[in-house]
Amino acid sequence: MQLREVTDDDLEMLREHRNRPDTRVWLGHSSPISSDQQRAWWATARLQQSPALLRPTAMFLIARDPDTQCDVGLVRISDITFDSACVGSDVFAEHRGKGYGYAVFAAACARAEQLGARHLWLKVFIENLPAVRIYKKAHFSIDQDAPVEVYYRPTLRPAMRYATSSDGFIHYVTMRRHSA
Ligand SMILES: CC(C)(COP(=O)(O)OP(=O)(O)OC[C@H]1O[C@@H](n2cnc3c(N)ncnc32)[C@H](O)[C@@H]1OP(=O)(O)O)[C@@H](O)C(=O)NCCC(=O)NCCS
Repeated sequence: MQLREVTDDDLEMLREHRNRPDTRVWLGHSSPISSDQQRAWWATARLQQSPALLRPTAMFLIARDPDTQCDVGLVRISDITFDSACVGSDVFAEHRGKGYGYAVFAAACARAEQLGARHLWLKVFIENLPAVRIYKKAHFSIDQDAPVEVYYRPTLRPAMRYATSSDGFIHYVTMRRHSA
């Protein structure tokens, strides 16, 4: 999987991806975002990954399939410290269910490790079955000591395609991977 920088031309596509109910139902902040909010986010994100910094504090990158040259997903690396980072990835809707999930996430982890992060972590809703499967395949395990946050999202329940609970409650857990 190739990773390329996000450009201004990608922003509206990313906002549409972010605002789809079947994407945002699985995000910590599930409300749709406006163009203004998107621009404010991007202004901050650019500073966080400025080449002028000794080390970026966050990175947002587009994942591209090297065979088809199609942009298939988004890589998010945040909370970057001298030895840890929060990693995340999405696959764009039209490319989901084709096996890209692990490749995009593995590329996110590899980039975070290149930045020096030996301890990788993320938060995921345990009901997001494909995501949890990908993270376990990448040797992440649930932090049993971290708090579990319970969210109630009844209006977004139809978008929970993989929900194992039928009542609108979903459970946000922390998963971690430590490298030697
Ligand atoms: C979660 C997401 C990244 C997965 O990407 P994807 O390309 O659709 O996933 P894949 O096709 O690679 O499948 C991933 C795994 O889940 C499995 N899977 C698919 N549907 C499943 C289901 N209903 N139940 C259990 N496992 C399922 C696949 O078989 C595969 O496992 P395998 O490699 O062992 O066969 C993608 O659906 C997405 O971006 N969703 C919206 C945003 C999101 O949830 N982001 C993550 C937030 S933490």
